[in-house]
Amino acid sequence: MTEIIELPRWQSYIEAEIGLVMPKRQNRWVYNAILELAKSNHLSIDELWQAVQTDRLLRQQLFDSVLIIESRFFRHLPSLNYVAALAKDYAQTSSKPSHLAQSSPHLPFRVWSVGCASGQEVWSLAMMLEDSKIDNYVILGSDVSLTAIKCAKKAHYSGRELSLIPAQYHKYIQNIDTDEAKVDSFKHWKIADELYAKVNFAQHNAMTRSVPTPFKQQVIMCQNMLIYFRRFDQRDILAKLVDQCVLGGYLILAPGEALFWQHPKMQRLTHDSVNVWQKIAE
Ligand SMILES: C[S@@+](CC[C@H](N)C(=O)[O-])C[C@H]1O[C@@H](n2cnc3c(N)ncnc32)[C@H](O)[C@@H]1O
Repeated sequence: MTEIIELPRWQSYIEAEIGLVMPKRQNRWVYNAILELAKSNHLSIDELWQAVQTDRLLRQQLFDSVLIIESRFFRHLPSLNYVAALAKDYAQTSSKPSHLAQSSPHLPFRVWSVGCASGQEVWSLAMMLEDSKIDNYVILGSDVSLTAIKCAKKAHYSGRELSLIPAQYHKYIQNIDTDEAKVDSFKHWKIADELYAKVNFAQHNAMTRSVPTPFKQQVIMCQNMLIYFRRFDQRDILAKLVDQCVLGGYLILAPGEALFWQHPKMQRLTHDSVNVWQKIAE
């Protein structure tokens, strides 16, 4: 017998937990994801509904199956170039007092990529900073999807993705050895070991009060995530990101995102192609 799935109830639940508002055109996809999850756990739809309320693992599986985990290496080059330029400036001035270094020189240049998907933005930036000979930096990538974070940490990617990486950064990739390639035949290469030391990933839901790092950041990037959220959730998330920025630090969104947003501690900077804000008050 075909089971009835009350999609609005599931969609409201997902939105309340992780903020994601699913477009109507994805109804069939969400429907199939719920059906598949129930089937693979040998549960009826009603039993699955009850179970996700209390079973953290199952709830995570539900989120992972509906999230849009899509990213690309060097997806928005102007934003990456902007951060790389800030990092260079920071490296040159961190021994002197400056707005980004504040009063604590020699602290690493910290970047947090919120909604980092499978790590492409984070690794792209790491390649650029390494190539610019910047060594005192730490990049944190976070995403609510556990599957995405596992992929980001593993950093194994497909041959098709390699074509998006400019040749000058190919020195930061390595072949996967044959045993590893047998496990996942779609992945052909991985990020070079030397980049791992300054990069961290954490599973984290941006809708929660907690933050995945105790450190304030020089730059927070949150690109192509907020478009799936309602305005009031966007505002709440952005307010938390402001708190996690150092005074003088930057918040970078994707072009066109959250243009309605205003915040007393943030000033939107004029830039042709980067949607960037600077923290002007503590
Ligand atoms: C379209 S991807 C964008 C990835 C990357 N920032 C980029 O621009 O290529 C959006 C990401 O946001 C993540 N996401 C959605 N809701 C989230 C939440 N509540 N907390 C953290 N990450 C979330 C998704 O899992 C997905 O990986």
